[in-house]
Amino acid sequence: MGYFITFEGIEGCGKSTQIVRLAASLRQQGYTVRTTREPGGCPLADAMRRILLDPKSSELVPRAELLLYAAARAQHVAEVIRPALTADEIVLCDRYIDATVAYQGMGRGLDLALIHELNRLASDGVTPDLTLLLDMPVETGLDRARQRNGADNDAEGRFEAESFAFHQRIRDGYLQLAADEVRFCRIEAQGTIDEVEQRITAAVEDFLQAGQTP
Ligand code: TMP
Repeated sequence: MGYFITFEGIEGCGKSTQIVRLAASLRQQGYTVRTTREPGGCPLADAMRRILLDPKSSELVPRAELLLYAAARAQHVAEVIRPALTADEIVLCDRYIDATVAYQGMGRGLDLALIHELNRLASDGVTPDLTLLLDMPVETGLDRARQRNGADNDAEGRFEAESFAFHQRIRDGYLQLAADEVRFCRIEAQGTIDEVEQRITAAVEDFLQAGQTP
């Protein structure tokens, strides 16, 4: 089996940029790397992503939203993540089960036991080996996300439009998860892109050197 590394954090924390950089660096070291993201990662889950993130989906009720994230995940795990891990690849995934705990659980206030149950169902036993939480204050992340979305990404602005308190609950939820689960590593996400990349590289090297190189 390969290694499954997930990236989590609030809006605008810089995950996507850092995933590209980490993938390039691991490939240079000879690893086979698959980058993917949630919601999405395969055509059917991408179709669900469009519904989930479209600002026109404001009528989506929280329970329907939760089920769509779970459905997209089940498809993504079966089509992409499990086959890549079975082929000994390193999978770098932009968000996964913890996003559902943070956003639908802490953010929307849905029942956490139900969310864990749905995460178990959708992930079908595929759990991250390492989860990097890119942590920064909500003010900083939202400023960055709004600049980005204003520029080129209008169809994906639904969560940026939520209240500051919603995003604060998500950050707090992630920090709580990071404190509770050993697979988490909190990365300080303020600073230059190069500085954050160095922190991530160090964390991933530690992980791979801990006797777990494929
Ligand atoms: P992204 O902007 O990092 O690509 O993530 C897409 C949005 O989907 C982001 O606002 C977080 C949200 N999301 C959830 O609410 N629950 C989930 O389970 C996942 C995977 C993402």
